[in-house]
Amino acid sequence: MSRIRILAENVANKIAAGEVIERPASVVKELLENSLDAGARSVRIEVESGGKRLIRVIDDACGMNHDDALLAFERHATSKLQTAQDLLSIATLGFRGEALPSIAAVSRLLLETRTAHEEQGTQVEFAGGKLVDVKTVGVPTGTSIRIADIFYGVPARRKFLKSETTELGHVASLVTHYALAYPEVQFLLKTSSQVILDCAPVDKLSERIYQVFGRQALDELVEIPASEGRVTEDAAWLDADEPAAKLGVSGFTSRPEVQRTNRNGIYIFVNRRLVRDRLLLHAISEAYRNVTPAGVFPVVLLFLALPYQEVDVNVHPAKIEVRFRHPQFVHDFTRDALRHALSIARPIPGFPAARVAAATASPPGLGFGLPGSPPIPEVGAYPGPPGAEPPALRSSVPAAEELELSRALEGPPGEGLGSDKAMNPAISFQTAVPPIAEMPATGTLPRAQAIAELKPLGQVNASYIVAVNSEGLWIIDQHVAHERVLFEQHLQARRKGELGGQRLLVPILVELNPRQTATFEQIGEELRANGFEADLMGARSVAIHAAPAGIAGGDAERLLFEILDGVAREHQSISLDSLQAKIAASTACHAAIKINTSLDATKMEWLLSELSKTEYPMSCPHGRPVVLRYPMREIERAFKRN
Ligand SMILES: Nc1ncnc2c1ncn2[C@@H]1O[C@H](COP(=O)(O)OP(=O)(O)O)[C@@H](O)[C@H]1O
Ligand SMILES: [Mg+2]
Repeated sequence: MSRIRILAENVANKIAAGEVIERPASVVKELLENSLDAGARSVRIEVESGGKRLIRVIDDACGMNHDDALLAFERHATSKLQTAQDLLSIATLGFRGEALPSIAAVSRLLLETRTAHEEQGTQVEFAGGKLVDVKTVGVPTGTSIRIADIFYGVPARRKFLKSETTELGHVASLVTHYALAYPEVQFLLKTSSQVILDCAPVDKLSERIYQVFGRQALDELVEIPASEGRVTEDAAWLDADEPAAKLGVSGFTSRPEVQRTNRNGIYIFVNRRLVRDRLLLHAISEAYRNVTPAGVFPVVLLFLALPYQEVDVNVHPAKIEVRFRHPQFVHDFTRDALRHALSIARPIPGFPAARVAAATASPPGLGFGLPGSPPIPEVGAYPGPPGAEPPALRSSVPAAEELELSRALEGPPGEGLGSDKAMNPAISFQTAVPPIAEMPATGTLPRAQAIAELKPLGQVNASYIVAVNSEGLWIIDQHVAHERVLFEQHLQARRKGELGGQRLLVPILVELNPRQTATFEQIGEELRANGFEADLMGARSVAIHAAPAGIAGGDAERLLFEILDGVAREHQSISLDSLQAKIAASTACHAAIKINTSLDATKMEWLLSELSKTEYPMSCPHGRPVVLRYPMREIERAFKRN
């Protein structure tokens, strides 16, 4: 019996149609989605000349019977939906019934397919959209599609294809995305000369990340603990007849030290569909605000799962944009899940020298023990002079395959699928990551406890506190540590509306430039809520009567300028949240203990105890590290005691 039907015109017309086939990677995307929709456990992708000469996708999915194999090439022929109502809850990656006819129209296509119920399979051949041949063949269950000479009848389009390497990069990026979304499926991507990706089925996303990106990448990530929220719990959306929809968030996100200059390391999946979504990108940057500096981006593999009717995927021709029914909830819930992950991660930077010594003694990566571990390159004795590139960092070069993958992806930047930059080949994970000064947090005390147990021994240069606990030796930057403490206290007090100012003995008169005056008027109320008491006197001057607690008289003026200029640099529409964070960060910076200040034991103990109570004790509001740790294990290794 046929599964595929032609959509009624009124349904077909409701579909956000558009250009589907733009380059080899778009063909691979459609074919892969078809294989996954059909329940493939294994997909093999072969390309020649970056897919320009040949693309083959072979799956072990349900296959098609003879009639379906032909029907599939009609426009709007699909087995995935029937009515306009079905469009409201799309559970499959495909739904338009347009891909196969569009691909057949611009290539030479050979399809071989068989269902488990049939003895014989079907072979269908198209050239430039015309059916050339249909016959019965003996083939395994599943589907194999071969696309030769993409755009061969459309020279104008063919001209727009980029170099082999670039096109291969797009294909590799695409396959990587799907490999991450479907760890239980086997993926093989090869060219005529090399295997680019070969992932056996695995149970967990972490194992798949390891297969695709290698160990270093995994070390840089923390798991986002799976959490679930009820979308309709929020009173504003509560609709009595509606069952509570659940939103699940999971995945991995990078430690604060991992800082990228672009968003290429951000992968967002909604119901296992790769999407590009501003709302979620915003939720991610909100989660990292005050954890990493402005202008840098984390690496994130974010998975959202929600009922199909909660998300409209029928809004973009390439199906990479979605619309949520409850965007605010999705945004806030995701942001909080990421913040939570970051707050438990609390990574601690180590001493680079300590890591070199440790690595010389025992190459990192041994004992990681996942199936299919790539060979770890040997780390020899450390030959270089101090300051040379430490072997600890070199030894984490990816295995041969991963290197090939990264190389395959080295195309000119800024070329995405179509004009879409967010879909860039994004897998240069290995090569783009700056070395990070960071130790995995396994086998150590919970962060807060580790810091609470620190016993300060003294200061280096009246600026850095030296302290010990059972984990080893720590150095704490006194200024940024205090900054983190004050920042969190200030922000908390502000949000509770409990912030008081400190009256200055003599009001300070300051001159503002026109821009500062405008900003002052715009954020005057928030400044008051933060402890400033300041009035405009005439057109240009402000009299400061009170400043946030902890700010010395002379600093009040500098702080005010810093806030006004900082806000002006942002665009006009700065959110209240980020305005408050900005003011808190500036105030904390001005009020914090400076470097070159001697502290007595009591003061140091107090500071460490306050730091242990913060939510993110490991980085200051501007993203700089607060502490360095030299773990016991590495001290012992460095002294050759084990
Ligand atoms: N690899 C495959 N295995 C089984 N069926 C497939 C496969 N590829 C395509 N089909 C069938 O062909 C139909 C048309 O595919 P396509 O043109 O991509 O449209 P859509 O995926 O939007 O339904 C699908 O609905 C599906 O029934
Ligand atoms: Mg499809």
